[in-house]
Amino acid sequence: MNILVSGGLGYIGSHTCVALLEAGHSVIIVDNLSNSKKETAEKIINITNKQVIFYEVDLTDDKAVSMIFDNHKIDGVIHFAALKAVGESIKKPIEYYYNNLVSTMVLVKYCLKYNVNKFVFSSSATVYGENRVPFNELMELFPTTNPYGETKVMSERILKDVAQANPMFSVSILRYFNPVGAHESGLIGESPNGIPNNLMPYITQVAKGKLKKLKVFGDNYPTVDGTGVRDFIHVVDLAEGHVAALNNLKKGVHIYNLGTGKGTSVLELINAFEEANGIKIPYEVVDRRPGDIAECYADVTKAYQELGWRASRDIFRMCKDAWNFEKNNSLDY
Ligand code: NAD
Ligand code: UFG
Repeated sequence: MNILVSGGLGYIGSHTCVALLEAGHSVIIVDNLSNSKKETAEKIINITNKQVIFYEVDLTDDKAVSMIFDNHKIDGVIHFAALKAVGESIKKPIEYYYNNLVSTMVLVKYCLKYNVNKFVFSSSATVYGENRVPFNELMELFPTTNPYGETKVMSERILKDVAQANPMFSVSILRYFNPVGAHESGLIGESPNGIPNNLMPYITQVAKGKLKKLKVFGDNYPTVDGTGVRDFIHVVDLAEGHVAALNNLKKGVHIYNLGTGKGTSVLELINAFEEANGIKIPYEVVDRRPGDIAECYADVTKAYQELGWRASRDIFRMCKDAWNFEKNNSLDY
């Protein structure tokens, strides 16, 4: 199939392009490079030995998106493009609502116009808010604590309404847990701008000596060792989950958790990283980070039963591949 991948040069999008190409699909990447680099397209080509088409286009640009649908016979869309920094979204709500919601609406509008009925959407475990773990897809959603999370809840709602009005439309909403790690080649991975907000890129930058010490946000949660617990998933497993979702699309809207189903605490992740890579990670415990929940992990039964997909790479592999990417990439990658 010809798959339009929005945000295809970003962290999860680039790994998914590799998985799609390896599964025999063709990809048309649309990305405005607001959080990615053009060279990533070359890296995808290097890894797979296959060509990709790339448009440097902003998805809120209605005319430019229309032109892409005019130029290509598109069979399906995987929509990753979004702004994703939780803290920044609180400071810049309009930017987040505008970018994330308008992008989704423009893409869906042209899918309907050009009879593209296959749509896969990047949602997030953040929509579960303070539900009880493990989170399952039937749970009622709690209001999230930030505009970023709300854009995911609202986009899910938009897609449900569109599918209701257009019975041929098939949508898979994928709720990701905590993607970490990188492609085994070390060519593509996560390279956040500035000081990382997320745990794994912070750890790898401490390992590299770019940052001095990790701050552990709280050790008095009601968890196994008092630190936050998350469902870390290898980004390549996540990418393969998209191929499975695309291959198993059904009419209407279907929601799947993509995680491992296993919780790992912050201290457990630090220990796993140290063991996997033989590097000490200095850390200090500081206050809780506002907005964080104690535990977040998935019930992954539905994805296995309906998509035949389950994550296979363990926490050591995640730590090894994350470090392999970090150490192979210069500061300005
Ligand atoms: P990323 O920032 O690496 O990738 C997003 C890509 O979209 C970037 O390349 C960016 O340049 C592009 N983009 C943003 N707005 C655009 C626009 N208007 N037009 C064109 N391109 C645009 O992020 P990621 O980690 O790969 O996340 C991908 C998706 O998964 C996002 O929707 C994100 O909200 C969601 N998600 C991510 C995580 C995570 O922890 N990484 C967790 C849950 C959900
Ligand atoms: N943490 C630290 N120190 C840090 C960074 C994080 O102790 O420097 C802790 C957090 O308190 C939390 C855990 O590590 O307990 C994971 O934090 P991340 O920031 O890596 O990830 P979050 O679970 O907070 O959020 C991520 C994405 C969200 C997405 C969510 C889905 O940033 O966009 O996963 O589960 F919605």
